[in-house]
Amino acid sequence: MSANTISTKGAVVITGASTGIGKVCALYLDRLGFRIFAGVRRDEDGNVLRGEASDRLTPVFIDITDSASIDSALKFVSGEVGGAGLAGLVNNAGISVGGLLEFQPIAEIRRQLEVNVIGHIAVTQAFLPLLRKDHGRIVNMGSIAGRMPQPYLGPYSASKAALEAIMDSLRMELRPSKIPVSIIEPGVVYTPMWEKARIRAHVIVENFPQEVFDLYGSDISAVTKVLENKEKIQKAAVSADVVAKAVAHALTAKKPKTRYVIGWDAKFGVFLSRFLPDRLLDWLTMIFWRELGLKKTTQDIGS
Ligand SMILES: NC(=O)c1ccc[n+]([C@@H]2O[C@H](COP(=O)([O-])OP(=O)(O)OC[C@H]3O[C@@H](n4cnc5c(N)ncnc54)[C@H](OP(=O)(O)O)[C@@H]3O)[C@@H](O)[C@H]2O)c1
Repeated sequence: MSANTISTKGAVVITGASTGIGKVCALYLDRLGFRIFAGVRRDEDGNVLRGEASDRLTPVFIDITDSASIDSALKFVSGEVGGAGLAGLVNNAGISVGGLLEFQPIAEIRRQLEVNVIGHIAVTQAFLPLLRKDHGRIVNMGSIAGRMPQPYLGPYSASKAALEAIMDSLRMELRPSKIPVSIIEPGVVYTPMWEKARIRAHVIVENFPQEVFDLYGSDISAVTKVLENKEKIQKAAVSADVVAKAVAHALTAKKPKTRYVIGWDAKFGVFLSRFLPDRLLDWLTMIFWRELGLKKTTQDIGS
């Protein structure tokens, strides 16, 4: 028996393990003794993971928007685990499409929903027979934005709200099969997603016609300033390790939670959204975005 077939805790597939939360989760679960199939889309990402993990971790190519890629990942994992099945599926892969909804290309909004919602459904459907074999569990990477939608992140917020709804529904359907379904709801976690958002925002803003600046000028500069303020984002962020621990709890606890709210910002957001009327919440959220962005502007002027 080769080293990578020995696992004390069963096998887990994690999508989007090349960077950020997915990578931290893959390495953490590997250290806990799981046999990890880490979803990547490039050879080099797989090699980096191999270098940082035990022999139990195997990179697996999977693009969650491509049915042929999902099929071949399923074939590979089935061949590796055989009749033992899967102890867990972590639907983590994701993108964040930001912008002003009035001017967002429909193709971009479709892409957002395709990756963050449809992709996870397709992967879940494909791997469910393997999960059944080992009484496995499904863990989804949601976001506090799914419960508390953010301005300039409409499609992203919608994708996370849709993921919550579909996975809540699935949890009830899978009750007779005893397959628990959990959703992790982090607030800000500093990962490459923020740098990708910053770069993307620059491209979008550079291509805006004058009309957009006439209508939304101050909001645009506040948002781009927020994204540029790396230190502030890092300061507000919770470590990806905390997210990984919640994923591990969802995979191992006798009674996994249905929802894991991670970070003070997310917990505060849930509290506010429970008790405040919508318009007051809207107002506070806008103040938060403008304040963050405008504070940076003031610092820029001072420096
Ligand atoms: N960072 C935060 O503040 C935060 C907060 C709440 C929730 N989340 C959620 O956490 C999850 C991970 O995000 P992150 O912050 O760790 O960002 P990240 O570092 O950008 O990681 C995103 C991962 O998803 C993968 N991915 C993107 N499109 C894919 C596709 N079509 N098929 C397969 N994999 C794909 C990426 O792979 P490639 O490298 O190949 O592109 C990458 O591995 C996302 O679902 C995100 O919404 C993040």
